[in-house]
Amino acid sequence: MAVVLKGSEEIERMRVAGRLASEVLDFIAPHVKPGVSTGKLNDLCHEYMVAVQGTVPAPLHYAPPGYKPFPKSICTSVNHQVCHGVPGERVLKPGDILNIDITVIKDGFHGDCSRMFFVGEPSIQARRLVEVTFECMWLGIRQVRPGARLGDIGAAIQGHAEKHGFSVVREFCGHGIGRRFHEEPQVLHYGKPATGLMLEPGMTFTVEPMINAGKPGIRELADGWTIVTKDHSLSAQWEHTVAVTEAGCEVLTQSSGSQPAPALAQ
Ligand code: MF3
Ligand code: CO
Ligand code: CO
Repeated sequence: MAVVLKGSEEIERMRVAGRLASEVLDFIAPHVKPGVSTGKLNDLCHEYMVAVQGTVPAPLHYAPPGYKPFPKSICTSVNHQVCHGVPGERVLKPGDILNIDITVIKDGFHGDCSRMFFVGEPSIQARRLVEVTFECMWLGIRQVRPGARLGDIGAAIQGHAEKHGFSVVREFCGHGIGRRFHEEPQVLHYGKPATGLMLEPGMTFTVEPMINAGKPGIRELADGWTIVTKDHSLSAQWEHTVAVTEAGCEVLTQSSGSQPAPALAQ
């Protein structure tokens, strides 16, 4: 299936969905502390989405081909968990790093974003990994404009991650998004400049690099969802949904609690 271009009314609806997804992260941030379980964070977010926002949590019962339905409303990935962590009994402890990935549906459109959280004080390496991954996402986003190619995004991310001795997860990528959670194109977080699909106004997709402190290899846990690093090294991820505009790029998943772009991607 081809890339679905969005018109201005569709982009406006994605702007709303994107802001709402980001606001779930604003809402949950103060609850991320030692002693809380990932299941409790899920329940708080679920209630906020459904009862306060009137949004639908897209992950709940989401079942792409080859997967069983995802059982929860958000993804929580701790330490060496790369992505798609299933919330449950696990209790957060000081020094943990946590990714919370939120996808909401509002008025037929999806907004998808994630942030990293520190539980107490992180190790120096964990802080660096999280910062560099944030920079990777933004350096990728800065490539987005009409006429640029998908390989420009991947190359910017890969170059920055590897310069710091980190590695890029290959098996998962950013994705087109709109009326469907995952659409074309696939947005790889590695690659070569000036290769791949050319960007045009009306495209909407995510940039969501998963960066490992060690080797890039991953494996899936027996729950059928949670992805971890093979070498048990730490992994970090940040995600925004963006739209390609005539002028360049609009980040759709921003809200009052979003961190501004880092200095190196101004
Ligand atoms: N939000 C994830 C992404 O960024 C996908 C999660 S699928 C789920 O693409 F089923 F695990 F929620
Ligand atoms: Co996504
Ligand atoms: Co996501």
